[in-house]
Amino acid sequence: MILVTGGAGFIGSNFVLDWLAQSDEPVVNLDRLTYAGNLQNLASVQGDARHVFVQGDIADAALLKQLLTTHQPRAVVHFAAESHVDRSIHGPEDFIQTNIVGSFRLLEAVRAYWSGLPADAKAAFRMLHVSTDEVYGSLAPQDPAFSETHRYEPNSPYSASKAASDHLVRAYHHTYGLPVLTTNCSNNYGPYHFPEKLIPLMIVNALAGKPLPVYGDGMQIRDWLYVRDHCSAIRRVLQAGRMGEVYNVGGWNEQPNIAIVHAICDLLDELQPRAAGGSYRQQITYVADRPGHDRRYAIDARKIESELGWRPAETFATGLRKTVAWYLANGEWVRGVQSGAYRDWVNKQYGAAVAA
Ligand code: NAD
Ligand code: TYD
Repeated sequence: MILVTGGAGFIGSNFVLDWLAQSDEPVVNLDRLTYAGNLQNLASVQGDARHVFVQGDIADAALLKQLLTTHQPRAVVHFAAESHVDRSIHGPEDFIQTNIVGSFRLLEAVRAYWSGLPADAKAAFRMLHVSTDEVYGSLAPQDPAFSETHRYEPNSPYSASKAASDHLVRAYHHTYGLPVLTTNCSNNYGPYHFPEKLIPLMIVNALAGKPLPVYGDGMQIRDWLYVRDHCSAIRRVLQAGRMGEVYNVGGWNEQPNIAIVHAICDLLDELQPRAAGGSYRQQITYVADRPGHDRRYAIDARKIESELGWRPAETFATGLRKTVAWYLANGEWVRGVQSGAYRDWVNKQYGAAVAA
């Protein structure tokens, strides 16, 4: 079986659902259920004996030891993190605690467990650390995309905390021989994405008749990947990645934010026209820029393609259409996550105008 951390969040829950759809290998899912963790994401595997959910913190060394000893996983896939850049600007502490201290505790627990395994299980064991392209910093317009050897230049408390965890993972391989793999992926989008991030926030606000807050000039560029493609990349790296290696994962899909917002408005105009008439584009509002806002991210995903034969299956057009359709069909899920904690956050970030 495998141990997944953060499997009730956006990418982790998609990963668990895809894993169980493709294999009978059980998953132990350790998640603290912060504001971003949601068991509703896993409703379709509730009662499935192959999925064991454990609510707990990756920084809890005793719990980690107990889980590893009891379940004897052959692999650990580490998603758990604080993941939202804007939240890291308002309050970095949780990011240091979970992304750095939590990852350190996990590495320590995994090292102790792995050291005690019999030789064949020890040789087969892998720990896959899920990281982000944001550790590489920001690109100028003409710069080549981030390769695995790009220097680390994190600019936000979020990306700095992820960079620190990447360095710890690397050090545990070099120092102790821990069989690790690291993936650095670009921006994901798709079902179960918490509506604090760009794409789901725009869909949810548009449908609610609220402003669509575009930071600064809206010309910051991200490289978007459909979440299930990220999940297939992780499965592939876990299966065949070379021990200790880093694999960059991306969608070959650079887009400025404003183009994303326009594409969402156009899809909604087609699939659920505004009752009041006119385009959802009329709701776009330019707001103050994010402090230290990275201008451009882009992933060079040639290594994972040439070594492991992975390429994304979705284009941005197909993936975004699926995503918008999913949000239209899952209003119940959206209402569920729009709890008090979420509303408080939106108020803090955007003020009453957007949250109203
Ligand atoms: P998310 O915020 O949606 O989910 C994070 C999950 O981790 C939640 O379920 C939360 O409850 C859990 N968690 C948080 N702190 C925990 C703790 N101390 N112990 C146990 N569980 C804890 O994040 P996501 O977007 O699904 O991202 C998952 C991983 O992928 C993160 O490591 C992130 O850095 C990385 N990543 C995300 C993206 C993206 O576009 N979202 C891109 C590249 C990499
Ligand atoms: P986000 O989804 O927070 O991901 P990240 O910061 O990790 O890339 O933001 C994606 C881009 O969209 C980023 O350039 C910030 C911008 N953005 C807005 O313009 N308005 C918003 O309300 C949000 C949440 C993000």
